[in-house]
Amino acid sequence: MSQMLTIALTKGRILKETLPLLAAAGIEPAEDISKSRKLIFETNKDNVRLLVLRGSDVPTYVKFGSADMGIAGKDTLMESGSEGLYEPVDLGIARCRLMTAAVKNVKTPEGRIKVATKYVNVAKRYYAAQGRQVDVIKLYGAMELAPIMDLADEIVDIVDTGNTLLANGLEPREHIADISSRLVVNKASMKMKHEQIQSVLDAVQSAL
Ligand code: PRP
Repeated sequence: MSQMLTIALTKGRILKETLPLLAAAGIEPAEDISKSRKLIFETNKDNVRLLVLRGSDVPTYVKFGSADMGIAGKDTLMESGSEGLYEPVDLGIARCRLMTAAVKNVKTPEGRIKVATKYVNVAKRYYAAQGRQVDVIKLYGAMELAPIMDLADEIVDIVDTGNTLLANGLEPREHIADISSRLVVNKASMKMKHEQIQSVLDAVQSAL
């Protein structure tokens, strides 16, 4: 008898790219996720269910074992830390870059600067590694506004096409990391449900 396997998915752009991969691995939601307000979805497999979460909550569900597996952006994983998780598969989807950015042609001041971001831990680590002193200001979205409104000297955010920076008079500065979505597995689940999880990993990997 196989146990229930719970997979936490990131809603939004990552979800759109995730569903075809899961389908290729033989897992399909029993109903259209985009047309539902539900948070838990049964699938065509009796023993697999899907959770649809905000990206930053996926590592939390997987770390605590409430979900056995999850799909999350590397940016989110860098921010949340990886204790309790395995990160066995780079799905190569939702690719972008984590970068610093600032107002175009405006030199960042010497000395201590203000950095606005939702990636507080990543930003602290990055600037500390450079030996630069920063005050990090936590924001939950629209980071591009912060340098324009003088809330911060720089931001740390993901950049894909660069259109959002451009449209707001900012420019990318330093490259922090290349980002893509990763499949993560709870460490205890990996032991307890090894066969089930391995078969999902194999199926996803061959679907890539
Ligand atoms: C992300 C990011 C930028 C934008 C970058 O926001 O925060 O604002 O995408 O993409 P671009 O370089 O192609 O313009 P997203 O739309 O994911 O919304 P969010 O603020 O909710 O994360």
